[in-house]
Amino acid sequence: MSDHSHSHSHNHDHSHGHSHGHSHKHGESQNREYFNQQASTYDSKHEKTLDQLIEEIRKRIDFIGVEWADEDSSDEEEGEKAEKKEKREVRLLDYACGTGLVSRALAPYTTQCVGIDLSENMVATYNARAANQGLTPQEMLAHQGNLCLPPTAPSYQTQTSLFSSPDFFNFDLAAICLGFHHFDDPALAAQRLAERLKPSSGVLMILDFLPHEKMDSAHPASDTVIHHGFSKEQIQKIFEEAGVGKDFGFQELAVVFNRATETTPEFKRRIFVARGTRSE
Ligand SMILES: C[S@@+](CC[C@H](N)C(=O)[O-])C[C@H]1O[C@@H](n2cnc3c(N)ncnc32)[C@H](O)[C@@H]1O
Repeated sequence: MSDHSHSHSHNHDHSHGHSHGHSHKHGESQNREYFNQQASTYDSKHEKTLDQLIEEIRKRIDFIGVEWADEDSSDEEEGEKAEKKEKREVRLLDYACGTGLVSRALAPYTTQCVGIDLSENMVATYNARAANQGLTPQEMLAHQGNLCLPPTAPSYQTQTSLFSSPDFFNFDLAAICLGFHHFDDPALAAQRLAERLKPSSGVLMILDFLPHEKMDSAHPASDTVIHHGFSKEQIQKIFEEAGVGKDFGFQELAVVFNRATETTPEFKRRIFVARGTRSE
Protein backbone atom coordinates (compact mmCIF):
# COMPACT_ATOMS: atom_id res chain seq x y z
CA MET A 1 0.00 0.00 0.00
CA SER A 2 1.81 3.16 1.09
CA ASP A 3 5.34 3.84 2.20
CA HIS A 4 5.51 3.56 5.96
CA SER A 5 9.10 4.66 6.32
CA HIS A 6 8.13 8.10 7.51
CA SER A 7 5.76 6.88 10.15
CA HIS A 8 6.07 5.78 13.75
CA SER A 9 7.19 2.23 14.22
CA HIS A 10 4.42 1.60 16.72
CA ASN A 11 0.98 2.96 17.47
CA HIS A 12 1.23 3.36 21.18
CA ASP A 13 3.03 6.55 21.96
CA HIS A 14 2.48 8.60 25.09
CA SER A 15 0.65 11.45 23.47
CA HIS A 16 -2.76 10.74 24.94
CA GLY A 17 -1.68 11.16 28.52
CA HIS A 18 -2.22 7.69 29.93
CA SER A 19 0.40 5.83 31.89
CA HIS A 20 2.16 3.13 29.94
CA GLY A 21 1.87 0.52 32.68
CA HIS A 22 -1.00 -1.56 31.32
CA SER A 23 -1.21 -2.17 27.61
CA HIS A 24 -4.98 -2.70 27.82
CA LYS A 25 -5.34 0.99 28.72
CA HIS A 26 -4.36 1.91 25.22
CA GLY A 27 -6.71 -0.21 23.21
CA GLU A 28 -9.52 0.65 25.56
CA SER A 29 -9.16 4.41 25.72
CA GLN A 30 -8.31 4.83 22.03
CA ASN A 31 -11.23 2.68 20.99
CA ARG A 32 -13.72 4.33 23.29
CA GLU A 33 -12.76 7.81 22.16
CA TYR A 34 -12.65 6.94 18.47
CA PHE A 35 -15.94 5.04 18.39
CA ASN A 36 -17.68 7.68 20.51
CA GLN A 37 -16.80 10.10 17.73
CA GLN A 38 -17.91 7.68 15.01
CA ALA A 39 -21.23 6.61 16.51
CA SER A 40 -23.56 9.22 15.01
CA THR A 41 -22.25 8.78 11.44
CA TYR A 42 -21.34 5.07 11.52
CA ASP A 43 -24.54 3.77 9.92
CA SER A 44 -24.79 6.36 7.16
CA LYS A 45 -21.07 6.21 6.36
CA HIS A 46 -20.94 2.44 6.08
CA GLU A 47 -24.53 1.74 4.98
CA LYS A 48 -23.67 -0.32 1.91
CA THR A 49 -21.11 -2.50 3.65
CA LEU A 50 -23.33 -3.02 6.69
CA ASP A 51 -26.22 -4.13 4.45
CA GLN A 52 -23.91 -6.55 2.63
CA LEU A 53 -22.69 -7.98 5.91
CA ILE A 54 -26.25 -8.47 7.13
CA GLU A 55 -27.00 -10.38 3.94
CA GLU A 56 -23.85 -12.49 4.30
CA ILE A 57 -24.70 -13.34 7.91
CA ARG A 58 -28.29 -14.30 7.04
CA LYS A 59 -27.05 -16.54 4.24
CA ARG A 60 -25.15 -18.48 6.89
CA ILE A 61 -27.98 -19.22 9.31
CA ASP A 62 -27.33 -22.97 8.91
CA PHE A 63 -23.57 -22.58 9.07
CA ILE A 64 -23.85 -20.68 12.37
CA GLY A 65 -25.78 -23.70 13.53
CA VAL A 66 -27.91 -22.43 16.40
CA GLU A 67 -31.37 -23.92 16.93
CA TRP A 68 -33.14 -20.74 15.84
CA ALA A 69 -36.43 -19.44 17.21
CA ASP A 70 -38.51 -19.82 14.05
CA GLU A 71 -37.11 -22.97 12.55
CA ASP A 72 -40.14 -25.15 13.20
CA SER A 73 -41.86 -25.44 9.83
CA SER A 74 -44.45 -28.00 10.89
CA ASP A 75 -46.79 -25.24 12.18
CA GLU A 76 -49.43 -25.71 9.51
CA GLU A 77 -49.91 -29.39 10.16
CA GLU A 78 -50.25 -28.88 13.86
CA GLY A 79 -52.90 -26.18 13.35
CA GLU A 80 -54.17 -24.48 16.49
CA LYS A 81 -51.74 -26.25 18.69
CA ALA A 82 -48.87 -24.68 16.79
CA GLU A 83 -50.32 -21.20 17.06
CA LYS A 84 -50.37 -21.46 20.81
CA LYS A 85 -46.92 -22.92 20.92
CA GLU A 86 -44.36 -20.52 22.35
CA LYS A 87 -41.42 -19.55 20.18
CA ARG A 88 -38.25 -21.28 21.25
CA GLU A 89 -36.24 -18.84 23.33
CA VAL A 90 -33.00 -17.95 21.57
CA ARG A 91 -30.74 -15.36 23.17
CA LEU A 92 -27.95 -13.49 21.38
CA LEU A 93 -25.04 -11.65 22.99
CA ASP A 94 -23.85 -9.07 20.45
CA TYR A 95 -20.44 -8.10 21.81
CA ALA A 96 -18.72 -4.92 20.57
CA CYS A 97 -22.18 -4.40 19.12
CA GLY A 98 -21.65 -0.90 17.76
CA THR A 99 -24.94 0.29 16.29
CA GLY A 100 -26.26 -3.29 16.23
CA LEU A 101 -25.36 -4.91 12.94
CA VAL A 102 -25.41 -8.50 14.23
CA SER A 103 -28.53 -7.90 16.30
CA ARG A 104 -30.37 -6.57 13.27
CA ALA A 105 -29.16 -9.43 11.09
CA LEU A 106 -30.29 -12.09 13.53
CA ALA A 107 -33.32 -10.50 15.20
CA PRO A 108 -35.75 -12.49 12.99
CA TYR A 109 -34.23 -15.75 14.25
CA THR A 110 -33.81 -14.88 17.93
CA THR A 111 -36.03 -13.81 20.78
CA GLN A 112 -33.61 -11.53 22.64
CA CYS A 113 -30.57 -9.48 21.59
CA VAL A 114 -28.27 -8.16 24.29
CA GLY A 115 -25.58 -5.75 23.12
CA ILE A 116 -22.43 -4.72 24.97
CA ASP A 117 -19.99 -2.08 23.72
CA LEU A 118 -17.17 -0.02 25.14
CA SER A 119 -18.48 3.18 23.58
CA GLU A 120 -21.44 4.82 25.30
CA ASN A 121 -22.34 6.67 22.10
CA MET A 122 -22.51 3.41 20.16
CA VAL A 123 -24.72 1.99 22.90
CA ALA A 124 -27.00 5.03 22.70
CA THR A 125 -27.26 4.68 18.90
CA TYR A 126 -27.99 0.95 19.19
CA ASN A 127 -30.75 1.59 21.73
CA ALA A 128 -32.27 4.47 19.75
CA ARG A 129 -32.48 2.26 16.65
CA ALA A 130 -34.06 -0.57 18.62
CA ALA A 131 -36.65 1.77 20.17
CA ASN A 132 -37.40 3.27 16.73
CA GLN A 133 -38.18 -0.18 15.46
CA GLY A 134 -40.69 -0.59 18.27
CA LEU A 135 -38.67 -3.20 20.11
CA THR A 136 -38.84 -3.44 23.89
CA PRO A 137 -35.69 -3.45 26.05
CA GLN A 138 -36.44 -7.10 26.75
CA GLU A 139 -36.15 -7.77 23.02
CA MET A 140 -33.15 -5.61 22.17
CA LEU A 141 -31.00 -3.56 24.51
CA ALA A 142 -27.34 -2.62 24.70
CA HIS A 143 -25.18 -1.79 27.71
CA GLN A 144 -21.87 -0.04 28.02
CA GLY A 145 -19.09 -2.30 29.22
CA ASN A 146 -15.87 -4.17 28.68
CA LEU A 147 -15.73 -7.92 29.29
CA CYS A 148 -12.16 -8.21 28.03
CA LEU A 149 -10.24 -6.67 30.90
CA PRO A 150 -7.48 -8.65 32.59
CA PRO A 151 -7.99 -9.16 36.35
CA THR A 152 -5.23 -6.60 37.01
CA ALA A 153 -7.17 -3.76 35.37
CA PRO A 154 -8.49 -1.13 37.82
CA SER A 155 -12.08 -1.44 36.60
CA TYR A 156 -12.08 -5.23 36.35
CA GLN A 157 -14.17 -5.77 39.51
CA THR A 158 -16.72 -3.11 38.62
CA GLN A 159 -17.15 -4.49 35.12
CA THR A 160 -17.42 -8.06 36.37
CA SER A 161 -20.16 -7.17 38.83
CA LEU A 162 -22.05 -5.06 36.26
CA PHE A 163 -22.48 -8.18 34.15
CA SER A 164 -22.85 -10.79 36.89
CA SER A 165 -26.63 -11.30 36.80
CA PRO A 166 -28.15 -14.34 35.03
CA ASP A 167 -29.40 -11.94 32.33
CA PHE A 168 -25.86 -11.91 31.01
CA PHE A 169 -25.32 -15.66 30.91
CA ASN A 170 -26.59 -18.75 29.17
CA PHE A 171 -26.64 -17.31 25.66
CA ASP A 172 -27.37 -19.49 22.63
CA LEU A 173 -25.03 -17.37 20.53
CA ALA A 174 -22.31 -14.83 21.27
CA ALA A 175 -21.03 -12.87 18.29
CA ILE A 176 -18.31 -10.34 17.69
CA CYS A 177 -18.45 -8.63 14.32
CA LEU A 178 -15.40 -6.52 13.40
CA GLY A 179 -14.40 -6.15 17.03
CA PHE A 180 -11.62 -8.71 17.37
CA HIS A 181 -8.93 -6.62 15.66
CA HIS A 182 -9.58 -3.78 18.12
CA PHE A 183 -9.02 -5.88 21.24
CA ASP A 184 -5.74 -6.07 23.13
CA ASP A 185 -6.31 -9.74 23.84
CA PRO A 186 -8.74 -11.48 21.45
CA ALA A 187 -8.09 -14.88 23.06
CA LEU A 188 -9.22 -13.49 26.40
CA ALA A 189 -12.31 -12.01 24.73
CA ALA A 190 -13.19 -15.42 23.29
CA GLN A 191 -12.83 -17.02 26.73
CA ARG A 192 -14.98 -14.39 28.39
CA LEU A 193 -17.75 -14.87 25.85
CA ALA A 194 -17.46 -18.66 25.91
CA GLU A 195 -18.15 -18.59 29.66
CA ARG A 196 -21.43 -16.85 28.96
CA LEU A 197 -22.71 -19.45 26.49
CA LYS A 198 -25.11 -22.29 27.22
CA PRO A 199 -23.02 -25.31 28.18
CA SER A 200 -22.78 -27.98 25.45
CA SER A 201 -24.76 -26.05 22.84
CA GLY A 202 -23.90 -22.33 22.87
CA VAL A 203 -22.14 -21.03 19.77
CA LEU A 204 -19.40 -18.41 19.43
CA MET A 205 -19.25 -16.54 16.12
CA ILE A 206 -16.43 -14.23 15.10
CA LEU A 207 -16.45 -12.13 11.98
CA ASP A 208 -13.27 -10.22 11.19
CA PHE A 209 -10.47 -9.57 8.71
CA LEU A 210 -8.12 -12.09 7.18
CA PRO A 211 -4.44 -11.11 7.53
CA HIS A 212 -3.71 -7.79 5.82
CA GLU A 213 -1.08 -5.10 5.57
CA LYS A 214 -0.69 -2.60 8.38
CA MET A 215 -3.00 0.37 8.15
CA ASP A 216 -1.49 3.67 7.13
CA SER A 217 -0.69 5.45 10.37
CA ALA A 218 -2.31 8.61 8.99
CA HIS A 219 -5.70 6.90 9.02
CA PRO A 220 -7.80 8.19 11.93
CA ALA A 221 -8.60 4.63 13.05
CA SER A 222 -5.03 3.33 12.94
CA ASP A 223 -4.48 3.65 16.71
CA THR A 224 -7.56 1.53 17.41
CA VAL A 225 -6.38 -1.38 15.28
CA ILE A 226 -4.29 -3.72 17.39
CA HIS A 227 -4.26 -6.78 15.10
CA HIS A 228 -3.82 -6.82 11.35
CA GLY A 229 -6.20 -9.62 10.62
CA PHE A 230 -6.25 -13.29 11.65
CA SER A 231 -5.52 -16.57 9.91
CA LYS A 232 -7.78 -19.60 10.09
CA GLU A 233 -5.17 -21.36 12.24
CA GLN A 234 -4.98 -18.48 14.72
CA ILE A 235 -8.75 -18.32 15.03
CA GLN A 236 -9.18 -22.09 15.39
CA LYS A 237 -6.58 -22.13 18.19
CA ILE A 238 -8.39 -19.29 19.97
CA PHE A 239 -11.69 -21.18 19.70
CA GLU A 240 -10.18 -24.44 20.95
CA GLU A 241 -8.42 -22.79 23.88
CA ALA A 242 -11.63 -21.01 24.87
CA GLY A 243 -13.51 -24.34 24.94
CA VAL A 244 -15.64 -23.57 21.87
CA GLY A 245 -13.74 -25.59 19.27
CA LYS A 246 -16.47 -28.19 18.73
CA ASP A 247 -17.66 -28.32 15.08
CA PHE A 248 -15.36 -25.43 14.21
CA GLY A 249 -16.24 -23.81 10.90
CA PHE A 250 -14.48 -21.06 8.94
CA GLN A 251 -15.64 -19.37 5.73
CA GLU A 252 -14.59 -16.38 3.71
CA LEU A 253 -17.34 -13.88 2.96
CA ALA A 254 -18.12 -12.50 -0.47
CA VAL A 255 -17.77 -8.95 0.90
CA VAL A 256 -14.51 -7.09 0.53
CA PHE A 257 -13.87 -3.93 2.50
CA ASN A 258 -12.84 -1.09 0.35
CA ARG A 259 -12.34 2.16 2.12
CA ALA A 260 -10.54 5.40 1.56
CA THR A 261 -10.57 8.72 3.33
CA GLU A 262 -9.68 12.15 1.93
CA THR A 263 -6.14 11.82 3.20
CA THR A 264 -5.48 8.08 3.08
CA PRO A 265 -5.43 5.62 0.20
CA GLU A 266 -7.96 2.92 -0.47
CA PHE A 267 -7.44 -0.45 1.17
CA LYS A 268 -9.00 -3.79 0.46
CA ARG A 269 -9.64 -6.41 3.09
CA ARG A 270 -11.10 -9.88 2.99
CA ILE A 271 -13.45 -11.01 5.73
CA PHE A 272 -13.97 -14.36 7.43
CA VAL A 273 -16.67 -15.74 9.66
CA ALA A 274 -15.87 -18.48 12.15
CA ARG A 275 -18.13 -20.51 14.43
CA GLY A 276 -17.63 -23.11 17.15
CA THR A 277 -19.79 -24.79 19.77
CA ARG A 278 -19.08 -24.81 23.49
CA SER A 279 -18.12 -28.35 24.40
CA GLU A 280 -19.15 -28.48 28.05
C1 LIG B 1 -15.82 -1.58 13.84
S1 LIG B 1 -16.95 -1.45 15.18
C2 LIG B 1 -18.02 -2.83 14.88
C3 LIG B 1 -19.41 -2.60 15.41
C4 LIG B 1 -20.45 -3.65 14.99
N1 LIG B 1 -20.20 -4.92 15.61
C5 LIG B 1 -20.50 -3.76 13.49
O1 LIG B 1 -20.08 -4.80 12.98
O2 LIG B 1 -20.94 -2.80 12.85
C6 LIG B 1 -16.01 -1.98 16.58
C7 LIG B 1 -16.74 -1.79 17.91
O3 LIG B 1 -15.97 -2.43 18.94
C8 LIG B 1 -16.14 -1.66 20.13
N2 LIG B 1 -15.06 -2.06 21.05
C9 LIG B 1 -13.73 -1.87 20.91
N3 LIG B 1 -13.06 -2.44 21.95
C10 LIG B 1 -14.00 -2.99 22.76
C11 LIG B 1 -13.96 -3.72 23.98
N4 LIG B 1 -12.80 -3.99 24.59
N5 LIG B 1 -15.12 -4.14 24.51
C12 LIG B 1 -16.30 -3.87 23.91
N6 LIG B 1 -16.41 -3.18 22.77
C13 LIG B 1 -15.28 -2.75 22.18
C14 LIG B 1 -16.08 -0.23 19.61
O4 LIG B 1 -16.61 0.68 20.53
C15 LIG B 1 -16.90 -0.34 18.33
O5 LIG B 1 -18.26 -0.08 18.55
